[in-house]
Amino acid sequence: MLNNHLFQPVVLTKSHCCIASAIHQTGFDFPWTTQTFESLLLLPTTLGWISNTGILVCSCICDEIEILTICVHTDYRKQGLGEQWLHFLFAYASTHHMKRILLEVSIENKPAFNLYLKTGFTEIARRKNYYKKKDGTFCDAVCMEKLI
Ligand SMILES: CC(C)(COP(=O)(O)OP(=O)(O)OC[C@H]1O[C@@H](n2cnc3c(N)ncnc32)[C@H](O)[C@@H]1OP(=O)(O)O)[C@@H](O)C(=O)NCCC(=O)NCCS
Repeated sequence: MLNNHLFQPVVLTKSHCCIASAIHQTGFDFPWTTQTFESLLLLPTTLGWISNTGILVCSCICDEIEILTICVHTDYRKQGLGEQWLHFLFAYASTHHMKRILLEVSIENKPAFNLYLKTGFTEIARRKNYYKKKDGTFCDAVCMEKLI
């Protein structure tokens, strides 16, 4: 597999939340704080992983997984790591008899939207003006699913 030394995910725990937040800051206009990660981890439905180059946090309810956030550190993008994270999640979903993976992505986030299309997600709905941008304007969210 590509980039094995850059992709060694471990389950996200409270001790990782500070570094998770630092990675998140490289990818989002409104990054999650350490406290946001810690609060999410208190929920029994939250499951996350972290590697030295990225994070993936999901919510698992019954046989569905929702991707809450995914971020590859900006220094390590375009090397196939985003794809590796998703294939890692597909393997987890399959092993745990999950039926569907869901997510929302900004219509303006072409790297992420393309990544999801490439890995087999399809559009199922749109949410109008769902995301607020740094300049105060809004853009639509695309809701996507992948059946496992
Ligand atoms: C989206 C993200 C996770 C992709 O991670 P990555 O490791 O760079 O992606 P990969 O190298 O695995 O690329 C896989 C595919 O994604 C798409 N892609 C990735 N970067 C892209 C870019 N800059 N422009 C267009 N498409 C892109 C392409 O389809 C690519 O396949 P290709 O290399 O055959 O063209 C990364 O850009 C990121 O962390 N962004 C900031 C956080 C974010 O937006 N998260 C998603 C929120 S919904």
